[in-house]
Amino acid sequence: MGTLDPATRYKLLVNTITPRPIAWVLSEDGEGRRNAAPYSFFNAMGGTPPLLAIGMSADLQREGVAEKDSLANIRTKGEFAVALVSEAQAEAMNLSATDAPPEVSEFELAGLEATRASRVAAPLLVGAPVQFECRLWQFIETGPNAGIVLGEVIVTHIEDRFLGEEDGRLRIDNPAMQLVGRTYGAGEYVRNAAPLHMDRLRFDKLGRD
Ligand SMILES: Cc1cc2nc3c(=O)[nH]c(=O)nc-3n(C[C@H](O)[C@H](O)[C@H](O)COP(=O)(O)O)c2cc1C
Repeated sequence: MGTLDPATRYKLLVNTITPRPIAWVLSEDGEGRRNAAPYSFFNAMGGTPPLLAIGMSADLQREGVAEKDSLANIRTKGEFAVALVSEAQAEAMNLSATDAPPEVSEFELAGLEATRASRVAAPLLVGAPVQFECRLWQFIETGPNAGIVLGEVIVTHIEDRFLGEEDGRLRIDNPAMQLVGRTYGAGEYVRNAAPLHMDRLRFDKLGRD
C-alpha cells in the first residue's frame, strides 16, 4: 500500500469494504452555525461504553489543506450528533456532502429542518429515523487535519413508530426505517433489503466429539 498513490489506496478500501453505514454528522461551530455532512467510515464500536467511530479525512477541496468542518466543530465543541440516513432523506444527505464553505449551512442548502439536541450542543434532524447525541470520547490523529473521532452515545432517539415490544423485550423495526449505506462504485448506495439469515451457533451444539 505504501508504494501506491493515495487515490488508488483509497479505492482499494472503499470498493471492497462494503456495505458501510452512513453517519450523517450534525454539529455546530463556535458561533452556533449548524453543519451536516455524511461520513461512511463509520460504525458502532461497542455497547459498554456505547461508542461509535468516524474516520475523517483532511479537506483537500479547499484552498490549502484544512480540517473538514465537522471535525473542526467536534474538536471545538467536544459534542455532536449522528443521524442515520433513510431513503427518504438520501438526496438531502448527498446534497449536504457538497464542499460548501463554512458560512453556508447544509441545513439550508439541503432543505433540512433542525431541532436542538437534549444533552449536547448540536442540532438534530427532523425526519431522521434514528439519531445519537454524542460526546467526543477520544480523537486519534491519523495525519494532518485528519483522524478518527470516537464518540460516546449519551442519548439515542428512535422514532416511536419503529419501536415495539414482544414478550417484554424491546423490538426495533429496522426494515421499516429504510436505511441506506454506501457500497462499491462512485455514487452507489445499498438498501437493507435482502438480509441473509444465519442463527448464532454454539460449539457444544455442533455434535463434534
Ligand atoms: C456517502 C458519503 C460518505 C462519505 N464518507 C466520508 C468519510 O467517511 N470520511 C470523509 O472524510 N469524508 C466522507 N465523505 C465526504 C464528506 O461528506 C465531504 O467532504 C463533506 O463536504 C464534508 O463536510 P464538512 O466539511 O461540512 O464536514 C462522504 C461523502 C458521501 C456522499
